[in-house]
Amino acid sequence: MSEFWELTFSKNDKMWGDSPTDNAGNVLNLLKRKKIKSILIPGFGYGRNAKVFYENGINVSGIEISKTAIKRARKYFKSDVTIHHGSVADMPFDKNKFEAIYCYSLIHLLGKEERNKLIKDCYSQLSFNGIMIFVALSASDKRFGIGEKVGQNTFYSPQGLNLYFYDEKSVKEEFENYNIIDLKEINEPEENPSEKHWMIVCEK
Ligand SMILES: C[S@@+](CC[C@H](N)C(=O)[O-])C[C@H]1O[C@@H](n2cnc3c(N)ncnc32)[C@H](O)[C@@H]1O
Repeated sequence: MSEFWELTFSKNDKMWGDSPTDNAGNVLNLLKRKKIKSILIPGFGYGRNAKVFYENGINVSGIEISKTAIKRARKYFKSDVTIHHGSVADMPFDKNKFEAIYCYSLIHLLGKEERNKLIKDCYSQLSFNGIMIFVALSASDKRFGIGEKVGQNTFYSPQGLNLYFYDEKSVKEEFENYNIIDLKEINEPEENPSEKHWMIVCEK
């Protein structure tokens, strides 16, 4: 996994552009409504989503497996932003608690045990009343069924990654112990969408 992402980031300067996702903009509004001041972002990438929170005065921390992505992210963030280098499989990286956790487009890259551990570890790092927001690939996405089937709702994509596609039942199964307060299918981007995800919000 680590080699895949290292190679991907070294070959593409800014794979997904500089702008945050539409979902990150919506999440910012939710964080503002809840007056949230700290956020952890597992699967930080080069920080295109983190930037929008950081610029709005929220304390940002991250976890990222690619050193190249972290190096690139450093252009946007001062030393007040901690980005742990490593896999979410090794969470927790510190004893901090966060008012929010935002995990965009990472969980569906993991196997079932790793997914369960990630959800549990994120919940453990939330402060009381904190919220965690996961954005995870949907079985309605156009990539569903493309590539070799390697497990239930899991396909080896032409890009060389195992992708797990969630349906409503599997979202509810995997998140059932974590107090889901909002669950919806979203389009990304919102206009002329190319991807379909689930947005799952849980509150501690
Ligand atoms: C699809 S990208 C999304 C990046 C970022 N959330 C964004 O939307 O810009 C997945 C990210 O997770 C990172 N990643 C993949 N597996 C990881 C793991 N096991 N632990 C930590 N980061 C991981 C990748 O390097 C990549 O930056």
